[in-house]
Amino acid sequence: MTPENPSTELLHELVLLASRSPSPHNTQPWSPRIVDGGIEVSIVPGRTLPAGDPTFRDVIMSLGAWIESVAIGAAEAGYAIDVEVLPALSELDSLPISGPADSTRPVFRVTLLPAATPEDASANASDLRPFTAADVRERRVYRGKLVGRPEVFSQLDSLQLPPWLSVRSLDDRAMQQLSTLGIAFTASRATVANELLHWLRLDPRHPRYGRDGMTDAMLVMPKPLARIAAPFTRRARLRDPLVAVAGPLARFFEGLGRDASLSSSTVDEVGAPTHHVLVANSRAAGIDDILSVTEAMDSRIGVTEPHALEAGRVLQRLWLHAHRQGIAISPHSEVIDSPAAHGALRKRLGLARSDVALSVFSAGVAQTRRVPRSPRLTDPSAQ
Ligand SMILES: Cc1cc2nc3c(=O)[nH]c(=O)nc-3n(C[C@H](O)[C@H](O)[C@H](O)COP(=O)(O)O)c2cc1C
Repeated sequence: MTPENPSTELLHELVLLASRSPSPHNTQPWSPRIVDGGIEVSIVPGRTLPAGDPTFRDVIMSLGAWIESVAIGAAEAGYAIDVEVLPALSELDSLPISGPADSTRPVFRVTLLPAATPEDASANASDLRPFTAADVRERRVYRGKLVGRPEVFSQLDSLQLPPWLSVRSLDDRAMQQLSTLGIAFTASRATVANELLHWLRLDPRHPRYGRDGMTDAMLVMPKPLARIAAPFTRRARLRDPLVAVAGPLARFFEGLGRDASLSSSTVDEVGAPTHHVLVANSRAAGIDDILSVTEAMDSRIGVTEPHALEAGRVLQRLWLHAHRQGIAISPHSEVIDSPAAHGALRKRLGLARSDVALSVFSAGVAQTRRVPRSPRLTDPSAQ
């Protein structure tokens, strides 16, 4: 029998499970606090990306993934969840650039409700797919070679996406061009490049190697290259000259890429990874009355923050769906972050003004025996 109120122990377990959710640069920007019968979550300013993610799009999507992970764990324990979005989620511009979370300004509250039936619990976990806590723990991103299985993303009915979200496909040649353009953008903007270097952990001697950020293993980086690059991630004073040298070079390549038109062949070679774009339609999301249009514009993401949070839940389901079928994901936010790549992407997909690209990712079978696991602040070894 399910107890009326969830135990504090269960809430702690759910927080631990949700810590396995994906986040940009593995920043883990959530700060959960257990309150009466539920969990309140605040954002950690020092774990946001003011240069790379100034609109908070990726931070909010990762919080959505966090909620979905809780919903899956709660459903397994016989609970449904209720999510109350709090005003602070739409006031993120007032967050400081660094520092700890302010627990008096949570952005949402998750409450556990005893589910009348197991079906209720899983329905509340957003649809009826059978994701488990083990899936949440085992899912991982892979940035090495992927061999595509196009059928995995061709049939998504079982995920019951809300009508305002859709998944579009992008061909491999175009994706390669757009990603190169996006990487050149990242490398050429000193603040964005510096921020990325700050979150890289390329040497096990890095003090935060087992806690957060992206390790050499996660990036599938050859050891000699990691050894050469590691000092630049650990010492801020080495970073500036590197970024200063890389900037003009990257800007040059960005210029070349911006002027080139996308390859016209849209037929992928056999074995190429597949590429997907999560697109929100602000009209279908009901963002067409004056008030909500203003809210969507204020958010700078193109959809309101609560919509971005919901999209993050869907993103986690998409990535878990892939994981269940033996497919790994490699996200490519740089394609949205670079104005040139973003513009070319919109044109390629024929997006309307009301369409907002929220996530770009590649998918396929990882060509490795073991996909490296990313660290978390909650890992026993990180304590
Ligand atoms: C909204 C969002 C955007 C992301 N964008 C990128 C990206 O552009 N490039 C990348 O390599 N990883 C990206 N990631 C993946 C994270 O780096 C990854 O989740 C994190 O390193 C933890 O690894 P794991 O997902 O394997 O546990 C993104 C994750 C989220 C949630």
